[in-house]
Amino acid sequence: MMPEFPAAAVDHLVPVADRLVEQGWSVSDSGLPAAVLSELERCCHSLWDSDSLRPAAIGRAGERQVRAEVRGDHIRWLDDCQPSAAHDAYRDAMAALRQTLNRSLLLGLDSYETHYALYPPGAGYRKHLDRFKDNPLRTVSVVLYLNSQWQPGDGGELRLHLPQGALDVEPRAGTLAVFMSDSIVHEVLPARRDRASLVGWFRRRPDNPLLR
Ligand code: OGA
Ligand code: MN
Repeated sequence: MMPEFPAAAVDHLVPVADRLVEQGWSVSDSGLPAAVLSELERCCHSLWDSDSLRPAAIGRAGERQVRAEVRGDHIRWLDDCQPSAAHDAYRDAMAALRQTLNRSLLLGLDSYETHYALYPPGAGYRKHLDRFKDNPLRTVSVVLYLNSQWQPGDGGELRLHLPQGALDVEPRAGTLAVFMSDSIVHEVLPARRDRASLVGWFRRRPDNPLLR
């Protein structure tokens, strides 16, 4: 039988939305139970160990290419993974976040796409924005880190390039980074040990009249 996890609390999501409005980014604790986080972490490593992750590509449709020196993570979309109680708990938490963001940002976010990502030692992701011509609907980026063993010196920090300077986020298990996909330039510093996460994007409706 699949274990069941209690529904995550949502009170802590309001400040996430507030910070997103004020500054375009938020870093906080996800509020997900430790049992969910450890199951997600285990799943990401087991996908990697069973060769079920694929090198991530960059570039436009038609000319997608793997360039590990630019982007070195290996991914699998959650839709292509076995359903589990932990995946349900994660999706429920993201649905709650989407609702909270819609209440304060009026962005009309209506879907969420998400994949596991594993950066092996040496892998990073150079400075980029998440909204590009091929993906005009990606509006809010979300990264949940899954590294219970992370220590200073292990690398793999998320570096946000902000007007006031660079801000490095340690990829510790349970940390949730949320930022505007079209405006926050960011990068992943090279990892020195396997670095696991779930990365996703809230997308807006293609026909949102508020955003024409
Ligand atoms: C991405 C990305 C950041 C991170 O996948 O587009 O920027 O910290 N990830 O994993
Ligand atoms: Mn990115």
